[in-house]
Amino acid sequence: MTLNFAHRGSLTEAPENTLPAFKKAIRHGTKALELDVQLSKDNHLVVCHDHKFSRFNKDVEGLIKDYSIEEIKQIDIGSAFGDEYIGVTLPTLEEVLKICPPDLLLNIEIKNIPVIYDGIEQILLDTLHEHDRLKNLVISSFDHVALKKVQEINSNIQLGMLFYYRILNPWDYANTSGLNISSIHPNQVYVDQTFVQECKQNGYSVYPFTVNNVGRYEELLEYGVDGVFSNEPEIFIR
Ligand code: G3P
Ligand code: MG
Repeated sequence: MTLNFAHRGSLTEAPENTLPAFKKAIRHGTKALELDVQLSKDNHLVVCHDHKFSRFNKDVEGLIKDYSIEEIKQIDIGSAFGDEYIGVTLPTLEEVLKICPPDLLLNIEIKNIPVIYDGIEQILLDTLHEHDRLKNLVISSFDHVALKKVQEINSNIQLGMLFYYRILNPWDYANTSGLNISSIHPNQVYVDQTFVQECKQNGYSVYPFTVNNVGRYEELLEYGVDGVFSNEPEIFIR
């Protein structure tokens, strides 16, 4: 079965990685959602892709890690998208978990580059445990050390290994990593039929990111991918 992830929610319709963007994706009927997590100064999980605010509010200097959660919840990041979203703030992971139905597959990406958030793995797993959200879950990261820490804390978590750059035989790398990787999440630009076949022969599902072109999506399906990450509702609700 093909499973497409709404990438950062429905980000063409609402500010990315916010409650309105997630609600729209859920309302569209997506079966899977991707979001990015970082840590505030006082160690709360904040859902955001960038490690700084500037793309969403150019008046706010510094990094997410420099602000407490109380401060972050007062920073408007919605008006840059449109007047309809004035006052929208970065959500905490807990806020997002509360609106996600249990049958929605959640892919939580740990953002650990360029800022390294020491201890984010334990905080994440504690939070997911408190919200009974350790199932129907994939944790992914470009930081494979973070994946290792997740596995050391809880070896039952499904892990997705992200690759931005093309490397030689990522399936061999995954095999020898010591990690129980269930899926490989490659940058879609270099995914071809051989890539998909090799991953599948080694027992990995393949979810390329980020695919917004229907023609490319159909090509990837022919190669045998299990789904994609997409910003495009037409693709992620299929
Ligand atoms: O997890 C897939 C994709 O989100 C990875 O890249 O930079 O959009 O977080 P990025
Ligand atoms: Mg991401």
